[in-house]
Amino acid sequence: MSVAIYPGSFDPLTNGHLDIITRASKVFSEVIVLVSINTSKKTMFSLEERKTMIENSVKHLKNVRVETFTGLLVDYVKTIPNSLIVKGLRALLDFEDEFRMALVNRHLCENIETVFLTTSMEYAHISSSLVKEVLRFGGDISNMVPSSVLNWCNKMEVK
Ligand code: PNS
Repeated sequence: MSVAIYPGSFDPLTNGHLDIITRASKVFSEVIVLVSINTSKKTMFSLEERKTMIENSVKHLKNVRVETFTGLLVDYVKTIPNSLIVKGLRALLDFEDEFRMALVNRHLCENIETVFLTTSMEYAHISSSLVKEVLRFGGDISNMVPSSVLNWCNKMEVK
């Protein structure tokens, strides 16, 4: 059984992300949620804040751990024996970007595979960007994010 590395910005973690993590935890022996840097995104939460929020949301999944990494994804993957990259696909919208990232990662390291899991339909419309937008305008995000993320968002002053 392989180790699944699930990278992303997770700014913040959504129910859709948690759905993918839960599915991956049933298929792979171990799942590492890797909070990473996407240089095209300006984030609301720090790496450590995102890590803590995810840790609080995955406590019930015993084979899942959370790490941060600020370098190239393939360089992290190379350090974990018998591992591969897992990404979530919501709809056609995600496909082009995810396909391109998978090919760039393969270009950088031929031996690293990317596996896609599809999210549940009920989460297909949820993204971190939309969560932040709703949050900024004082809307209700309670059905979009895990309760620990909700608590965190309620406590913080929206930047
Ligand atoms: O949740 P996101 O923002 O779609 O995740 C994208 C992420 C963070 C996985 C991607 O930007 C990434 O892998 N960043 C690490 C740096 C890297 O390896 N970039 C080249 C891979 S395309």
